[in-house]
Amino acid sequence: MRVTLQPSGAVLELVPGERILEGARRLGYECPQACRNGVCHVCAALLVEGRVQQAGEVRDHGEFYTCIAEPLEDCIVLWDGVLAPGELPVRKLSCQLTECVEVGGDVWRVRLRAPAGKAVRYHAGQYLMIERENGEKSAFSLASAPHGGRELELHVLVREDSARSLIEYLQRSQMARVELPFGDTHLAQLPDRPLVLIAAGTGMAQMHSLIEHCRASGFKHPVHLYWGVRRPEDFYQLEHWEQWKQLPNLYLHKVVSDLCGWEGRCGMLHEAVCEDISDLKSVHVYASGSPAMIYATLDALVTAGMDAHQMRADVFAYAPRP
Ligand code: FES
Repeated sequence: MRVTLQPSGAVLELVPGERILEGARRLGYECPQACRNGVCHVCAALLVEGRVQQAGEVRDHGEFYTCIAEPLEDCIVLWDGVLAPGELPVRKLSCQLTECVEVGGDVWRVRLRAPAGKAVRYHAGQYLMIERENGEKSAFSLASAPHGGRELELHVLVREDSARSLIEYLQRSQMARVELPFGDTHLAQLPDRPLVLIAAGTGMAQMHSLIEHCRASGFKHPVHLYWGVRRPEDFYQLEHWEQWKQLPNLYLHKVVSDLCGWEGRCGMLHEAVCEDISDLKSVHVYASGSPAMIYATLDALVTAGMDAHQMRADVFAYAPRP
């Protein structure tokens, strides 16, 4: 029996005779609940489609209690407050600005400190929304990793007026209102195989978070980082780069696309990956960049033998290919 949850669209596959709350918990979902006996109504949901049986009664619409309701057929239910396995609740925080410095390549490193006493929970690879002076929100990958606790880091490319005004606003106000976490291109669980991380420009922020998390968690499989920019001067400074070079399982590759003739590699990121990694079926790929770059990378790696489901990127969620 399939129960589709709204608003997330997640589908619960229940076994015969299983109640909805019971099945959701078995599958690892965090659900609003208390008595689990039909008394408190904390687990209430709205039946959108299908029929359920609750306390001997058949219902085909309206509010019902998931702890005592068993689906009689495939159903759609609107159930707020349910978190999928690994999903964390979104929180709003007012953070103190602790650093805002230019680190080369027109990139600014912004460090924020969340208030004491408020849990800051996110997975490595997720992003936050930061509120601008006019109230609009912009997304930035978290470059920090969860073990950093209250300390959050962002990498902001400042080449356009909108980014410049954000930096000026942060410097003036010395604080930032943020919401986090967002995104499913994360490492809620460490994989059991090598990682290939592909970053264009400040897409490096997301990979920075993943690498720092792997480092803190003692991840033993190889991690191959490919960082691409158009010109060598577009690479910006990363505080831990020199330490990363010493790690035995971390392989760092800088690739420049537009100006060959520097001492490093030239070409497209996917070309470098395909040159180096002969068995693309044995890795997980995380990629960050523009939609055009991500889909070109996906196509190239699939042609070279990778299965499409091995690659994760936020672009797949916010700019799905028709
Ligand atoms: S948990 Fe109390 S009514 Fe369902």
